[in-house]
Amino acid sequence: MANWSIFFLLLCSTIFHLHQSEASHDARVYRNLADLQPKTPSQTYRTSFHFQPPKNWMNDPNGPMVYKGLYHLFYQYNPLGPDWGNIVWAHSTSTDLVNWTPHKPGIFPSQKKGDINGCWSGSATMLPGGVPAILYTGINPQNQQVQNLAKPANLSDPYLIDWVKDTNNPLMYPTPANRLNSSSFRDPTTAWKGPDGHWRVLIGNKVNRRGRAILYRSKDFVHWIQAHHPLHSAEGTGMWECPDFYPVSSSIRPGKNTGLDTSVIGVGVKHILKVSLDDTKHDVYTVGKYDISKDVFTPDKGAVEGDAGLRYDYGKFYASKTFYDSLKGRRILWGWINESLSKEDYISQGWSGVQGIPREIWLDKSGKQLIQWPIPEIEKLRGKKVGLAGKLLKAGSTQQVAGVTASQADVDVSFSVQLSELKKADYLDQTRRPDAQLLCSQKDASIKGGLGPFGLKVLASKDMKEYTAVFFRIFKVKNNKYKVLMCSDQSRSSINPRPDKTPYGVFLDVDPLHEQLSLRTLIDQSIVESFGAKGKACITSRVYPTKAIGDAARLYVFNNGIANVAISNMSAWSMERALLDKKS
Ligand SMILES: *[C@@H]1O[C@H](CO)[C@@H](O)[C@H](O)[C@H]1NC(C)=O
Ligand SMILES: *[C@@H]1O[C@H](CO)[C@@H](O)[C@H](O)[C@H]1NC(C)=O
Ligand SMILES: *[C@@H]1O[C@H](CO)[C@@H](O)[C@H](O)[C@H]1NC(C)=O
Ligand SMILES: *[C@@H]1O[C@H](CO)[C@@H](O)[C@H](O)[C@H]1NC(C)=O
Repeated sequence: MANWSIFFLLLCSTIFHLHQSEASHDARVYRNLADLQPKTPSQTYRTSFHFQPPKNWMNDPNGPMVYKGLYHLFYQYNPLGPDWGNIVWAHSTSTDLVNWTPHKPGIFPSQKKGDINGCWSGSATMLPGGVPAILYTGINPQNQQVQNLAKPANLSDPYLIDWVKDTNNPLMYPTPANRLNSSSFRDPTTAWKGPDGHWRVLIGNKVNRRGRAILYRSKDFVHWIQAHHPLHSAEGTGMWECPDFYPVSSSIRPGKNTGLDTSVIGVGVKHILKVSLDDTKHDVYTVGKYDISKDVFTPDKGAVEGDAGLRYDYGKFYASKTFYDSLKGRRILWGWINESLSKEDYISQGWSGVQGIPREIWLDKSGKQLIQWPIPEIEKLRGKKVGLAGKLLKAGSTQQVAGVTASQADVDVSFSVQLSELKKADYLDQTRRPDAQLLCSQKDASIKGGLGPFGLKVLASKDMKEYTAVFFRIFKVKNNKYKVLMCSDQSRSSINPRPDKTPYGVFLDVDPLHEQLSLRTLIDQSIVESFGAKGKACITSRVYPTKAIGDAARLYVFNNGIANVAISNMSAWSMERALLDKKS
């Protein structure tokens, strides 16, 4: 407790420093906002099973890990208000990744040379003997971004309440010799160990418009030496925030042990390099090969880098991070979902930001992309179920799915299309690479097509003045092939004109001639988190309905195309509330 009160004393000077700072994030001074900020946060759009703190600002997930059978989540948090600023590592633990117990912040500004002006993002690494170590970005008195180390004060404490910072901090920092831009040098990854016994870690960076993953090596985790070259870099991509680098198995299939620990290399192993593009706020990844003898990552042939590349999520999902869950042999992805409100509106709401449902991730059998799926633990919250199977969804029809709490639900539906109906698909000209997101905004759910739109209308009001549509359209392309578009369209999600309602979209790598088309959507008050084609593509939307809230919200299946489609199977469950603020 003592340390924490010292932190509040330090905070006064921190705010002063930040006010004068030229750190890349925009610093806030709260006295101007005091009028706007409510005494109690508004509950209207708060989530029931997506992680969020009781109030205030949250952004990046930090240092997720499992220790002595407990899951730990730290996150970037402002203890003083609903806007970005005064950043500390807030901390919660869980036995199941669903219900969470909050603790006092694990890491907060306290060290003169290392982090007195802020504790920004970082990652945890398990050292030999099961000792967790956190590397994170601190903001020093000159407002430079530097990298620090912290370790638990008491290894017998499974909650890891207290953390001790290394006296050598900062361990990695910009110098005239390395010429690293001190405003573009942040977010250390989980470290991995090579066969030579040396640890390696990546730090996000850029030089002009070239995004870079700077590599450091260390024998003892304290003294780090910069490698002569980055692990990887790409021209024209801008600043790389929150890099993540990990192995995936090219032979493991869904079920048990889908993940690999971060240091695993060898036959049948590919690597994923994920970066968060500061310019566009997209989390993009490439699948490739890691040559540990040269410490170089090479994206696979045909892999697209930068903003046109593969994304974890084609809606809102940023600054994400994975960790290896040694309890269940899987790799789990966390990501931050921000508000679609103006700053003024989220400040008056009293809180900002939620975390996505933890997703298990593994390499698709094509070897070209990842598959993501909500962790099965979330299914514990499933309550009352309604089901449908083998039902024709006629052209032009809309049907309510009654009997579930539509504001808080898990819906899993698969559609199939007969060959005779597939022929009714509209033709899509692919000579100029069509833009999925643009197509979704041009053709919303009200626009009739040959085959589709069909899918779900969620968080819908009785009068249909408000709904979010998650749907598919199937197009014919050259050579008797088909192309499937998935949209999450919030353009009609609220009669309130203020939130950002840009529709999102992505093309799915599926063949509707031979496969069913599946959609799983987790609906949670203001979040619509969707997994298309069994996790081949995800889209997360934030919405702020004014009528379709609580018991007034409804759920529909619809088909607004000319062709009929069949619901081969659908299950919809009411979801119970998770305990996000469980007392220990
Ligand atoms: C360390 O944690 C254990 C388990 O919580 C506790 O019993 C012990 O008192 C702690 N030691 C110190 C020095 O705080
Ligand atoms: C360093 O990064 C900051 C933040 O992106 C940028 O504004 C600045 O121009 C960069 N400086 C140089 C010398 O590239
Ligand atoms: C947060 O949301 C706004 C509005 O929807 C968007 O413009 C912005 O890029 C988002 N930021 C991040 C980090 O996702
Ligand atoms: C339908 O879905 C439910 C829930 O996912 C599943 O248990 C059931 O086996 C499925 N039925 C068919 C016929 O696929």
